[in-house]
Amino acid sequence: MMTPQFWSIPPSDLTPEKLADKAVTLQKRLSEIVERFSDVRFATSLAAEDMVITDAIVKAKANIQFFTLATGRLHQETIDMTKTTEDHYGITIIKAYPEESDVQAFIAKYGMNGFYDGEEPKKACCGARKIKPLNTALLGADAWLTGQRREQSTTRTELNHEELDDARGITKFNPLFDWTESDVWAYIKNENVPIHPLHLKGYPSIGCEPCTRQVKKGEDIRAGRWWWLQSDSKECGLHVNQ
Ligand code: ADX
Ligand code: SF4
Repeated sequence: MMTPQFWSIPPSDLTPEKLADKAVTLQKRLSEIVERFSDVRFATSLAAEDMVITDAIVKAKANIQFFTLATGRLHQETIDMTKTTEDHYGITIIKAYPEESDVQAFIAKYGMNGFYDGEEPKKACCGARKIKPLNTALLGADAWLTGQRREQSTTRTELNHEELDDARGITKFNPLFDWTESDVWAYIKNENVPIHPLHLKGYPSIGCEPCTRQVKKGEDIRAGRWWWLQSDSKECGLHVNQ
């Protein structure tokens, strides 16, 4: 049997001038955010886009707090990447853990891996392991940042740099909203940004371990996320304005 070919890091067609321009614009966006808001927090999953933003926050010396949603179902590589990033940049990434009672309630009702059974249990698991911890992590914040890009998904084509996060009543920024996949990788290469090891094993997008798999060459970059669900429901609710 032939081994399938998986997604791999794309080459970049960006000129050095265009890349420098992107990097300057990104730093400007970050600086403007911290001028307008006093308590700004960045949600990092440690995947490529978030590493670009981390690098830019550090270089812009922007006063932005880092946090990650430590769902309890992450790959060991993601947990290791948190430490690698902290050490590389000399930063602290706050871990937002789920409430043990919420996790136990999910397991009692649906089973440990009940999310494979459909939309509702998946929503309940993400609710307990991601959404509630996100709400707690953002208590007291004036604004938060994500690494979402328009190009990533059919659900993100309307994304803007600045949005109102209705669910939490604060402002939300997507400083890479207009970046392409190849822009992200060009920046990473140019700035020697550390990368999550799973990007070298066919994973363009990385979430929880049981809900993420490799993507074949030519497939959608989010095809490996919740692959058993329709593409318009492949969001965990972190970015849905409820
Ligand atoms: S998801 O909604 O499908 O999980 P995706 O993996 O594309 O999101 O990531 C989009 C953005 O959501 C990331 O750039 C990051 O800002 C935030 N995010 C996703 N997962 C996490 C996580 N585990 N911890 C912190 N932020 C996350
Ligand atoms: Fe649960 Fe999967 Fe959502 Fe992680 S991505 S919180 S394991 S359903």
